[in-house]
Amino acid sequence: MKHLISARGLEATPTVAILDTAMDMVDVRTREVKKLPTLRGKTVANVFFEDSTRTRLSFEAAALALSADVTTFTTQGSSVSKGESLKDTLQTLEAMGADFIVLRHPHSGVASTVVNSGWVDAHIINAGDGTHEHPTQALLDAFTMRSRLRGENARGSNLAGISVVIVGDIFHSRVARSNALLLRTLGATVTLAAPQTLLPREIDSWGAAIVSTLDEAIDLQPDVVMTLRVQRERMTSGFFPSESEFTQLWGMNDSRLRRLPPTSIVMHPGPMNRGLEISGSVADSPQSTVTEQVANGVAVRMAVLYTLMGDSR
Ligand code: NCD
Repeated sequence: MKHLISARGLEATPTVAILDTAMDMVDVRTREVKKLPTLRGKTVANVFFEDSTRTRLSFEAAALALSADVTTFTTQGSSVSKGESLKDTLQTLEAMGADFIVLRHPHSGVASTVVNSGWVDAHIINAGDGTHEHPTQALLDAFTMRSRLRGENARGSNLAGISVVIVGDIFHSRVARSNALLLRTLGATVTLAAPQTLLPREIDSWGAAIVSTLDEAIDLQPDVVMTLRVQRERMTSGFFPSESEFTQLWGMNDSRLRRLPPTSIVMHPGPMNRGLEISGSVADSPQSTVTEQVANGVAVRMAVLYTLMGDSR
């Protein structure tokens, strides 16, 4: 594997291997010297054409923990405002020595366009392309589910027997698509809960069951409820009648949490709209994995960089 563009292309065996490597990286992060020399002399360029807190800092921390040099490019203050193309921007970064390009872009499909174009030789990692995919988020979510729900038995295992509900703004969510695809590959059962207007058109190809309210989904007693941010910035018109109706039908709150088995977990990729798709008390409850997902993200991205490094064809 030279690039990581989409969860669709990932098979179970290499995915489980990445999750196992991430377990080793968690160990590295708890040692006194929290670094490995693996990427010494290599440069990771974070290229972010869209805002990000977690993903950018997480890739930065992961690259530094593997002893890479890191350069960060954000559109604000760059020559993109002077009309410089994506091709020229990427070739400029590669000319400065980038071995890995971690790319976030508002247009769906950009990461695979870059790989197919041959513009650069660097490893390309898709850190979110429009409403399409965000494969490292799906990997860190799978890692979080596996360690929370399997504990000691996590290593080597897939997610067979684990049931996951993904709820809310699925239409605009690259996190939902990458998760649905990867979870299926790993043997989990996926149910989607969303208003009709927030389901993508090609939903049938995801291999997931669909229910129309979160209450119906809770009745299934899932192991995981994955909440998603309502992406107001991508909404051009009213996708649901009102925010209070959304919260009532699809928001994760205390009473819904109480109806779940005590071992079930509630996830959110962040950033959260507290009080809209998830209540503050659920977000801060022991069953919430929000900050654990962030911590695991660094180890999983270390594992991804490490794995891609091994394939320099
Ligand atoms: C997500 C993203 O940017 O795709 N966040 C993240 O990477 N942690 C989800 C979102 O923006 O809602």
